[in-house]
Amino acid sequence: MRTTIDSYKDRAGRLDLQGIEFDDFKDQPLPAEALRSLKYMHDVEHHTVCYLRDLLLTPAHSDPAVTSFLSCWAFEEMWHGEAIGQVLEAHGEPAGAPRIAALRQKRRRKEAFSAFSTIASAAFAGRAFIALHMTWGAVNEWTTQAGYSRLAESAGHSTLKELLKRIMKQEGGHIDFYSSEAGRRLEDSVKAQRLTRFALKHFWRPVGAGVMPKEEVRFLVRYLFEGSKGQAIAERIDRRVDRLPGQGGLHLLDGAVSKLSRRNLAV
Ligand SMILES: [Fe+2]
Ligand SMILES: [Fe+2]
Repeated sequence: MRTTIDSYKDRAGRLDLQGIEFDDFKDQPLPAEALRSLKYMHDVEHHTVCYLRDLLLTPAHSDPAVTSFLSCWAFEEMWHGEAIGQVLEAHGEPAGAPRIAALRQKRRRKEAFSAFSTIASAAFAGRAFIALHMTWGAVNEWTTQAGYSRLAESAGHSTLKELLKRIMKQEGGHIDFYSSEAGRRLEDSVKAQRLTRFALKHFWRPVGAGVMPKEEVRFLVRYLFEGSKGQAIAERIDRRVDRLPGQGGLHLLDGAVSKLSRRNLAV
């Protein structure tokens, strides 16, 4: 059944942190790799609003269902960043406003280029751009949810596991909306299928790759998606992309993991 904006709006809300004891991390700190992963996730969750700024200048702003979704989505992602920030703070790491401000300061010029290129391509593509945006969002949300699942498993920390379970549930709501809209819009338009396939094939990179330093992207992809379990998850996401109209055989995740892994081995 198609996920409607009304069913998503009914479920959307601030992340429930009741019963999450952040002081647990002071008594039982996370392994270094898990903490490094959470810094990445904190920064990327908080970057959502910048991504939203670019999207609202595209044809996406003319569709009320899409803008309603984006309003709730950005709110939920912000609270994911805030919750992860509390984990970082419990480890004595900077989080929240000072960390985000420093990141945005570094990215100011790149941000202007990113906004310009999004707007220019959207103007060229027209409404087909919305199908691309929905598909891109679905791939990123599938990847994000899988990343949290892998982290919950590998960190071996019960408090983190519970927190990530709650975050993943909300990511599931994002997945439902994006993938449902992507399927419907791609089905309706061959132009949208071709545009989306071209953009994914040539420009898609793992979530956060446009924001985070290359060595952090490489670390995260290796930490979460290498090995037999990581590979199985990457293949599962690729099969989901295969099922979207006109998007078969792209192997986005598999390609990204092997590319970043090979580079790392060469370092
Ligand atoms: Fe999130
Ligand atoms: Fe999400």
